[in-house]
Amino acid sequence: MKKMFLKLVLLILWHLVGGDDVYFVMVGDSVTLSSNLTEIKDEDQIQWRFGYEDNNAIAEINVTANRFSVFDDVLDGRFRDRLKLDNKTGSLTITNIRNKHGGDYELQINQMSTMVIVEVSDEMEMTMGDSVTLKSGFTVLKNDNGIQWRFKDTLIAEINVTANRFSVFDDVLDGRFRDRLKLDKKTGSLTITDITSEHAGVYKLQTNSEINTVHLIVVGEKKVFVKTEFSVTLNSGFTQMMDDDEVQWLFSNENFPIAESINRDSDVVIFDDVLDRRFRDSLKLDNKTGSLTITNTTVEHAGKYLLKTSHLFITFRLTVYAPLPVPVLILNSSQCPSSSSSSVQYCSVLCSVVNVSAVSLSWYKGNSLLSSISVSDLSISLSLPLEVEYQEKNTYSCVINNTISNQTQHLDISQLCPTCSGSVHCCGPTEAAIRLVLSALVGVATVIIVLYDIRSRRAEQDQAHIHASQT
Ligand SMILES: *[C@@H]1O[C@H](CO)[C@@H](O)[C@H](O)[C@H]1NC(C)=O
Ligand SMILES: *[C@@H]1O[C@H](CO)[C@@H](O)[C@H](O)[C@H]1NC(C)=O
Ligand SMILES: *[C@@H]1O[C@H](CO)[C@@H](O)[C@H](O)[C@H]1NC(C)=O
Ligand SMILES: *[C@@H]1O[C@H](CO)[C@@H](O)[C@H](O)[C@H]1NC(C)=O
Ligand SMILES: *[C@@H]1O[C@H](CO)[C@@H](O)[C@H](O)[C@H]1NC(C)=O
Ligand SMILES: *[C@@H]1O[C@H](CO)[C@@H](O)[C@H](O)[C@H]1NC(C)=O
Ligand SMILES: *[C@@H]1O[C@H](CO)[C@@H](O)[C@H](O)[C@H]1NC(C)=O
Ligand SMILES: *[C@@H]1O[C@H](CO)[C@@H](O)[C@H](O)[C@H]1NC(C)=O
Ligand SMILES: *[C@@H]1O[C@H](CO)[C@@H](O)[C@H](O)[C@H]1NC(C)=O
Ligand SMILES: *[C@@H]1O[C@H](CO)[C@@H](O)[C@H](O)[C@H]1NC(C)=O
Repeated sequence: MKKMFLKLVLLILWHLVGGDDVYFVMVGDSVTLSSNLTEIKDEDQIQWRFGYEDNNAIAEINVTANRFSVFDDVLDGRFRDRLKLDNKTGSLTITNIRNKHGGDYELQINQMSTMVIVEVSDEMEMTMGDSVTLKSGFTVLKNDNGIQWRFKDTLIAEINVTANRFSVFDDVLDGRFRDRLKLDKKTGSLTITDITSEHAGVYKLQTNSEINTVHLIVVGEKKVFVKTEFSVTLNSGFTQMMDDDEVQWLFSNENFPIAESINRDSDVVIFDDVLDRRFRDSLKLDNKTGSLTITNTTVEHAGKYLLKTSHLFITFRLTVYAPLPVPVLILNSSQCPSSSSSSVQYCSVLCSVVNVSAVSLSWYKGNSLLSSISVSDLSISLSLPLEVEYQEKNTYSCVINNTISNQTQHLDISQLCPTCSGSVHCCGPTEAAIRLVLSALVGVATVIIVLYDIRSRRAEQDQAHIHASQT
C-alpha cells in the first residue's frame, strides 16, 4: 500500500514536470504507444502496465527467456483481443479504444520507468454538411458480433452476422436520417452524410457484450440578411425538437441569453428586457422547432446570435439593412464641340450616394454593366463617373444595391447636360461650378415639382375614381 502511494506521488510529480507522452484517441480508433526503441537488444526486459492496480502488466518482453507476451485477461479482460505487441521495437498497439482504456500506462525498460497517458474522447465535433463515420472499432465482424446503432435510444442500424442481416432504419425520427446512412458490412462502422442540426446528439453502439456512446457535436455558421422593419427567422434546422433538446439562444459577443426552451413540453422563456431592451416585444421562439423569429428589425438587432443545445452550436450572423438611398446624378463637366475639332459633344456625369455601407454602385447601359464600385464598410460618400455623348439615347441608369435590395436612377441626358447649341466654347471650371449649383437648384425644384405632380395626380385619380364609380 505504502509502495503504491509512493508510486502515485512520483507519477503525479512526473506529470507536473511534463515528462509524459500524451496520446489523444477517439473512441473506436487504435493507438500505438511507442517504446522509443528502434530495436530491442538481447538483454532487454520490457513491460507495459496499465493503471495502479496489482497485477497490471498487460504486455511483456523478456528477450533472454524469448518471451513475447500480452496479458489481455487481466483487469477484467478490458484489453481482450485489443493488444498487439511489436516484438521488434516493444511498442504496444491498442485497437478499438473505449473509455475504459483511458489513463496512465507505465513502460518499464530494464527497470527504467516512463509514463504514457492515453486520453480517450467520445466526442466528435463536425460542421454542418460534413460526413462523419462512427467507428464500431472492429476491423472485421465475426459471426458472434451483433451490432446495433441507436440515436437517442432509437434504432437506426443493425447487423446480425449469423443471419446475414444488414439493416438501416432511416425512416425513423421524422426521416432525419433518410438517404444519409451508410453501414459498412465488413466493420459495422456507420457513416452519416450531410450532417444537419438534427443529427447532433448521443449515438449508442451496442455490441453483444456492451454499450458504448459517441457524442456527435455539430457546429455551424450561417449568414442571414433582413431589411429594417421586416421579420427574420433564425432557423434551428429542427423539423421537430425531441424531448431532451434544450434550446438556448444567445446574442452578441457577451453571449446574453435572450430565449430558452427547457424542453419540448415546457413554456418558452424570452428575456427581452436585456441589452437596452432592444428586443422588446420582438422575439418569438417556436416551441416546436426551436427557431427564433425577430420581428420589426432595427439596425440594433444586427450581430451574432448563437443557437445552443447540449450537442449543437450554430452561429448566425445577422445583417440588418437600412433602406437604400436613391442615387443622385450630378453634372461633373461637359465639353461642347470646338469649331475646329470633331462635332462630338461629351458630358461627364457623377452618380453619388452618401452614408452607405456594404453596397455596390453601378452604371448600366440598358441591361449591360458598364462600371461598378463596391464598399464593405461605412462610406460617407461614394460616387461613380460616366461620360456620355449628347446624341445618345437615354438608356443609362445608375443602380445602388446590397445583398437584398437595390435602387435605380435613370439618366436623362438632355435634362442634366447643358445644351451646347450655338455656343462654341463651354464650361470652364467656374461655369461648371455655376452649373452644378444650378443643377442642384433644379434638383430641388424637381422634387417640388414631383411632389406637386404626385399630389395633383392623386387628385386626378380621386376624381377619376369618382368618375368611374359614377358611371
Ligand atoms: C520518447 O522520446 C520523446 C522525445 O525524446 C520523449 O518526449 C518521450 O517521453 C519518450 N517516450 C517514451 C515512452 O520514452
Ligand atoms: C527474464 O527471463 C530470465 C530467464 O528466464 C529470468 O531470469 C528473468 O528473471 C526474467 N525477467 C523478468 C523481469 O521476468
Ligand atoms: C515477431 O513477430 C513476427 C510477426 O508477427 C513473427 O513472425 C515472429 O515469430 C515474432 N517473433 C517472436 C520472437 O515472437
Ligand atoms: C441473429 O439472428 C439469429 C438468427 O435469426 C438469431 O437467432 C439471433 O438471436 C440474432 N442475434 C441478434 C443479436 O439479434
Ligand atoms: C407552443 O406554442 C403554441 C402556439 O404558440 C401554443 O399554443 C402551445 O401552448 C405552446 N406549447 C407549449 C408547451 O408551450
Ligand atoms: C416597429 O418599430 C418601430 C420603432 O423601432 C415602431 O415605431 C413601430 O411601431 C414598430 N412596428 C410594429 C409593427 O411593431
Ligand atoms: C448616417 O446614418 C446614420 C445611421 O443610419 C445616421 O445616424 C446619420 O445621421 C447619417 N448621416 C448622414 C450625414 O446622413
Ligand atoms: C470631371 O470632368 C473633368 C473634365 O472633363 C475630368 O477631368 C474629371 O476626371 C471628371 N471627374 C470625374 C470624377 O470623372
Ligand atoms: C449587388 O448585386 C450584384 C449582382 O446582383 C452582386 O453580385 C453584388 O454582390 C451586390 N452588391 C452587394 C454589396 O451586395
Ligand atoms: C433589383 O432588384 C430587383 C428585385 O428586387 C431585381 O429583379 C433586379 O434584377 C435588381 N437589379 C439589379 C441591377 O440588381
